[in-house]
Amino acid sequence: MSELRWHPFLEQWVITATHRQERTFLPPDDYCPLCPTQPGGFPTEIPSDQFDVVVFDNKFPSLQAPPPEPAVSGSDLLPVTPAAGRCEVVVYSPDHRGALATMALPRIEHLLRVWRDRYLALSADPQLRYVLVFENKGQEVGVTLHHPHGQIYAFPFVPPIPEKELAASRAHRERTGRCLMCDAMAEEQADGRRVVLAGERFVAWVPFHARWPYETYLAPRAHQRSMAEWTEADVADLAAVLKGLLLKFDARFQRPFPYMMVVHQAPIGAGADQADCHLHFEFYSPLRTADRLKYLAGCESGAGTFINDTLPEESAAALRRGGPRSVAAVRDPERLTRRLRAAGRRPMPAALVEAFGEGGPAVRAFAPGRVNLIGEHTDYNDGFVLPMAIEAGIELAARPRAGREVRVRSVDFGETATFRLDQPIERDAAHPWSDYVRGVIREVQQAGLPVDGLDLAFSGTLAQGAGLSSSAALEVGTALVLQALAGFAMEVPRLARLCQRAENQFVGLQCGIMDQYASLAARAGHALFLDCRSLAFEQVPLDLGRHVVAICHSGVKHALVASEYNRRRQECEAGVAGLRARFPAIRALRDASLEQLEACREALDPVVFRRCRHVIGEDDRVLRSVEALRAGELARFGRLMDASHASLRDDYQVSCPEVDLLVELARQGPGVLGARITGGGFGGCTVNLVERDALPHLRDVVLPEYQRRTGRVPRLFVSTAADGAEVD
Ligand code: GLA
Repeated sequence: MSELRWHPFLEQWVITATHRQERTFLPPDDYCPLCPTQPGGFPTEIPSDQFDVVVFDNKFPSLQAPPPEPAVSGSDLLPVTPAAGRCEVVVYSPDHRGALATMALPRIEHLLRVWRDRYLALSADPQLRYVLVFENKGQEVGVTLHHPHGQIYAFPFVPPIPEKELAASRAHRERTGRCLMCDAMAEEQADGRRVVLAGERFVAWVPFHARWPYETYLAPRAHQRSMAEWTEADVADLAAVLKGLLLKFDARFQRPFPYMMVVHQAPIGAGADQADCHLHFEFYSPLRTADRLKYLAGCESGAGTFINDTLPEESAAALRRGGPRSVAAVRDPERLTRRLRAAGRRPMPAALVEAFGEGGPAVRAFAPGRVNLIGEHTDYNDGFVLPMAIEAGIELAARPRAGREVRVRSVDFGETATFRLDQPIERDAAHPWSDYVRGVIREVQQAGLPVDGLDLAFSGTLAQGAGLSSSAALEVGTALVLQALAGFAMEVPRLARLCQRAENQFVGLQCGIMDQYASLAARAGHALFLDCRSLAFEQVPLDLGRHVVAICHSGVKHALVASEYNRRRQECEAGVAGLRARFPAIRALRDASLEQLEACREALDPVVFRRCRHVIGEDDRVLRSVEALRAGELARFGRLMDASHASLRDDYQVSCPEVDLLVELARQGPGVLGARITGGGFGGCTVNLVERDALPHLRDVVLPEYQRRTGRVPRLFVSTAADGAEVD
């Protein structure tokens, strides 16, 4: 029997279904009804093992079509009605010992598509009002079959919790015109403390109001109402975020994590309020420690008020620390190892042991350097830049140590610097390389985030003083390592700003945001087109065909940078002040046009005028470069690079005779579409867009000629566009 009895006090239906007492209860593994039938074995629900995901009607349904007649008759006050609806079982895999967390991504993606199909199919049934996709996992949750599976209940009414959520969302929309979940997610992400794992399209977080110790939400960033809206890109991202989250759950107590997973999405049927729903997954686990359970006792069951014995911020931090640290690591757990191996260095964890002795496991990170393709000295003018990350970078390893001391080992310098966290962190004239680490640690402390004692070792494959952002790479790598050790979460923009502040306020270079942003957010095969005002960015595919990006180090180590660089910034500020006197809307050079600048020529110092002319022209060249790259017009892009160099040389005056010569010699050779100085300037590297076949000429003719004429030893290297920084 099964029937729906009305609860007049709570105004909700109760499903009464006594036949479920008979359902299979924790059978021995050989008698699992969800395993494929074995030849000669007892017949199970699944006759064949040739499947990915199977859906069938539950043998012990709470809701069914057609429903049986109720066993009792109700009254007006206490009505009873047939338990109409559907109960389906979704078997995820033929593998009895499998679990959603450990299944391969393609299988999880497939499962997501199956859920979507069932949602759509059940939506077509006019009797139904709500499709609840859920999974109960683990004996602590009351699971009677361990085979990996979930369930789908299709209700003839909207169940009370989703209904309450919908009413709250509707009220919020009527008040503010916005979606409640979108607003809550924006707050959670801005705050960051409770974010657990973020994909491109989906994010998982422990909500501010978590009722259960490890209650977690997982939702699309976009306002999606139901699974019906999932595209293939959503499916791919969601599968990885879902798997990553479940692996983090398992890592929390080093044991399979019991949980309930429930999907809330738009109700179905005529007149359903779909608009107010923002699809999301909710996870609740009864575990509050490795072996203690949270029971829904008097206060929860009797009053409906939860008592959470944990802090959501701490639960989120604990989840962040364990399991995969990023969606990329979920997709490919070996990627960082491979990347580090490709760098051909001795692994940093070994260096850590060598410097400081044996210790616990280390966190590893790699942060790449960058080469700026175009858009120089525009970042601190709120403008546009187009860098790409390069293969060379900085590798780090770190592990916690008791007490408040930090020891930092530079493997390349063969030096160790030590400082304390309970004293003001200061610059170290004896180990200036450690200032980047110190600066980041100080910024993390000042942001109110936890930093405990640690040992850190690092080594780089980046030439220093070459304009390839070795300092930003060290800052970014340090920040990621601290984040992983302490388990705090920060999205890329905040992390990049924090690293920039370390350099501005601690090291003393008033740099812009480009280098740190590129090291964090770059993507292999792409240039990063960044708007340095809004920090919005686009990944622009670098389809260079038979061309490559060749980087030539002039052998001139950039000196003067801090003083000259900071002076350029002041000149730009003076320019803005002059322009504003006439055009008050101009907040930064980004807002000015060449015509406006021309109109102010008389009022501006001639040097300041030229500085401004460079920046305004350079912003425009970045925009045109992005257009050219998108259109595959490499020659046009090359001409823009040339123009950028001329402007940096003549108007901005950040080149030097050696670099000018290197650019000129390269331009005279065959197969070079464009060449320019890259980075802060005053020496360092050039970036060249060169035909691959012309590389020997560059190496064997141009560079020796340069060396002959300057006495400097140049170096050539070619890099593909690499991925941003990673930690594991
Ligand atoms: C240095 C700075 C960047 C940027 C470039 C010039 O690399 O760190 O912020 O200003 O110079 O484009």
